[in-house]
Amino acid sequence: MAGTKDYGLGEFTYPRGWFMVADAAEVKDKPLPLHFLGQEFALYRGKSGKLVLLDAYCPHMGTHLARNTTSYVVQDGPVEGDSIRCPYHGWRFGADGQCNEIPYSNLPIPKTACVRSWPVVERLGAVYVWHDPEGGEPEWDAPGLPEWDDEGWVRHSWDHLGQLKCHQQEIVDNIADMTHLKPVHGSIVEFFENEFRGHLAIQRQGGPHRTLVAPDGRSPILITDTVYHGPGVLLSRMTGTHDSIILIMHTPVDDGVVQAWHGLMVKAPSGGRKATEQDSATARMYQAGALAAFSQDFEVWANKRPCINGMYMPSDGAFRKARTWYKQFYNPRAKKDEYLRQVQGVFVPAGMKPAPEAARGEMSLADAVAAAQAA
Ligand code: FES
Ligand SMILES: [Fe+2]
Repeated sequence: MAGTKDYGLGEFTYPRGWFMVADAAEVKDKPLPLHFLGQEFALYRGKSGKLVLLDAYCPHMGTHLARNTTSYVVQDGPVEGDSIRCPYHGWRFGADGQCNEIPYSNLPIPKTACVRSWPVVERLGAVYVWHDPEGGEPEWDAPGLPEWDDEGWVRHSWDHLGQLKCHQQEIVDNIADMTHLKPVHGSIVEFFENEFRGHLAIQRQGGPHRTLVAPDGRSPILITDTVYHGPGVLLSRMTGTHDSIILIMHTPVDDGVVQAWHGLMVKAPSGGRKATEQDSATARMYQAGALAAFSQDFEVWANKRPCINGMYMPSDGAFRKARTWYKQFYNPRAKKDEYLRQVQGVFVPAGMKPAPEAARGEMSLADAVAAAQAA
């Protein structure tokens, strides 16, 4: 198993960024034990609805706040207001992580009686944590989508893909990987390019596809406009049988182990302002197709050996650029520009056509391609 050091990514074992840690629907007032980024957490929803993510171990005697089922504290409900009580001696911690009650002591509560409280937000049906080895404020907003609040779109439900024994670098490589599209997914790539810009890594490509086809087996041109928003959140707009958006989230569990989720939002096939039940059923089927396509990648990652130094051909695409872009998250922010200077811009694999120029501006990739074809 290869870790961050083996890939030569930088000073930090775990990168800076927003990471999904839970499906928002599964977070109730019963604390969830989580293990990500090499450490243990307790996640719960306070009675006010507030999400709270705390370091798991109680400062009193080290008890795990969420891995307990038998203590009466837990049986009676450990969440009070937005606070949580430790299963062992009942110390209570607020959403800010500060101890606010020691049930058997009248003495002032020491300031050091606290656990770390992490910045979390709920967006796109996910709970995201901001992780920063330097302890800084979020560098960019937690990624969202206007379609999430549009009733003409069917929201996804998360496919929980579990853990993969590979480093997340292998997944991120996919953003530059033009030449796997035909062998793995049956796509015929007619244009392909990458762009790296700040915390975004973008891939624009289009062509027919064998996995994501209409129920009648037709393979419409599939155009994807894919964006990594930092190191762990990928959102891909697709124009094919239906307009849709793929969501792929991956979060380091330990160094060399990663956990992933997949979802697909679909624009109501009926075209109505409000999606119908029939639209939802079609969307679920289409998500299953998208999952089948992603599973084709997943199977490769699950069984490959680490690629520390690839043997790249010029027409493989911008793998090295993508890896340099990715290093910004494993190093202090002060060094970020060093990496960005080497990669900012648009890259087209040797022998390939770029995406239509207009697609790099405000226009969606699909609209730009349609306009180019009409001209
Ligand atoms: S270990 Fe948590 S209250 Fe004692
Ligand atoms: Fe793929």
